Amino acid sequence: MYVWDKRGQRYLDFSGSAAVNFIGHGVDEIPAAMAEQARKVEFVHSSQFTTPIAEEYAQELLDFAGDGFSGGAVYFTSGGSEAIETALKLARQYQVEVGESKRHQILSRCQSYHGATLGALSVSGNKRRREIYLPMVREFAHIGIPYCYRCVHDCSDGCRNCGLQYAAELECAIEAAHGSVAAFIFEPVSGATLGAVVPPDGYLQKIAEICRQYGVLLIADEVMTGMGRTGRNFAVEHWGVVPDILVTAKGLSSGYVPLGAVIASKKVVDAIAMGSGAFLHGFTYNSHPISVAAGHAVLAFMRKHALIQAADSTCAGSAGHTLARTLETLRDLSTVGDVRGIGLLWAVEFVSDKKSKQPFPAEINFSAKVASTATKRGLLVYAVQGCVDGTVGDHLLIAPPAVITAEEIVWAVQLRASSPGNTEFDGGISLGKVCKWHVPGITVCRSRPELQPGSRRGSWTGWGIGLRQIRYIARHHASAAAASAGGRRNSTLGRRHFSRSSKAPGRGNARLARQPHGHDFSGTDDGPQSCYAGGGPDCRGRFGAPEALEAGGLEFIGERPTRSRH
Ligand SMILES: Cc1ncc(COP(=O)(O)O)c(C=O)c1O
Repeated sequence: MYVWDKRGQRYLDFSGSAAVNFIGHGVDEIPAAMAEQARKVEFVHSSQFTTPIAEEYAQELLDFAGDGFSGGAVYFTSGGSEAIETALKLARQYQVEVGESKRHQILSRCQSYHGATLGALSVSGNKRRREIYLPMVREFAHIGIPYCYRCVHDCSDGCRNCGLQYAAELECAIEAAHGSVAAFIFEPVSGATLGAVVPPDGYLQKIAEICRQYGVLLIADEVMTGMGRTGRNFAVEHWGVVPDILVTAKGLSSGYVPLGAVIASKKVVDAIAMGSGAFLHGFTYNSHPISVAAGHAVLAFMRKHALIQAADSTCAGSAGHTLARTLETLRDLSTVGDVRGIGLLWAVEFVSDKKSKQPFPAEINFSAKVASTATKRGLLVYAVQGCVDGTVGDHLLIAPPAVITAEEIVWAVQLRASSPGNTEFDGGISLGKVCKWHVPGITVCRSRPELQPGSRRGSWTGWGIGLRQIRYIARHHASAAAASAGGRRNSTLGRRHFSRSSKAPGRGNARLARQPHGHDFSGTDDGPQSCYAGGGPDCRGRFGAPEALEAGGLEFIGERPTRSRH
């Protein structure tokens, strides 16, 4: 659950980095499985060979995805965006193979995020991340998304009506496209952009029905919600929906390697196998043996320690349940407008006025401020801006590894407001005090208390893992987990598997390397989440002022758990 920086400060990972880590940091079994595979064969190109590990893991994932994927195939990539690109092209090729070559549009939803590559960005609805690239992307229709805290429809019947109203937008968009829609892509539970918004009952079922009726493929983007994060294998299971294509990443490898997967149903695979016979697509590192070995070991670990049950927020005593109940207590606070989520994927939305639901002005960057203060206290959360309209609206995404204990959850959620005599929190943020604040550079350098800072310097070539990531790997708590709880087809799809070079440059402000004032920003240490998430220039600004972290306003505090965790 923890990582340590070079000064020895410990951080509780309350957001699984960016909803990535599900099994905890520093699980020995994963590098062991990777090393074992590396000794057998480190890489083959998927146009020439497949490997036993890829075949076995692909079959496991098909089984894991449920009966709806029996006879399907898995396509391994190096992460979420690559997997989304793959799914979009697969949907298009499917339509061509079945004689529907006019179908090329991919419909999606506003306030969504499907990845950073241009194709994925074109179907995303995240305003900030798209804005400057819009002239470069091919745009199709984006429909509205049920966001019941700020719904424009009548939600008085428990949101059944509003769910159907939003679903009706899909039907209108399909009809308006006159037979040219190939697929509809959606996040079953909103990820970072909107913050863990759970759809109203009936909505996804209706969406699936409309897609079937119009011959439109249904693509579930479970990059964030898949692999147990919501307390089910895949989030769509909460609503009994079976998509044609499932996309997953993040928790698939729990961050130990870059890994994504497209899980295609038999209908899609057969169309290609019986048509042209080959999926016209491929990345060099599809199905990288060492990466799939890591994913395979992660799944085994999840099963062994019943981590999906631990994530299930409907199951009393589970980590998910404790998290849900504990976060609910934040509703009493004057700046907390909404607490929402499912499983181990939650969001806390901040408002300047609860009654009117007025958000904070964007320039305050409220959620980033909360995150930076939390970081100072040794707690990592994922701050995002823009949930209201793409620009304003602040929330924190909370997505801890499933090995988190009740004690750690309670510690993390304890706020300054609960301290007697403290008025900072309830007073909210002081508008005049926001400009000069700063997160000190944090080089996360070790995963275990016993490793001295700097003791693992040097480079580790190959395996898709760079030194920076190695430093970031931290210790898991198997004991906590214990307490809480393909066979490819003979199609090209099955043959194409996965991975990516360790030399690839990283993303976001963390890679700004040395800042002028001397803080080391190398590593996955972008103090954090706020920058990755908010993405605006205002984020970058905070790196410039070394002196002031005393932000006032909201602070997470509390005693650290006394029990030594390693
Ligand atoms: C729902 C969703 N889809 C796609 C992606 C893109 O994945 P990646 O960042 O691994 O390319 C993300 C990343 O946050 C995501 O949350």
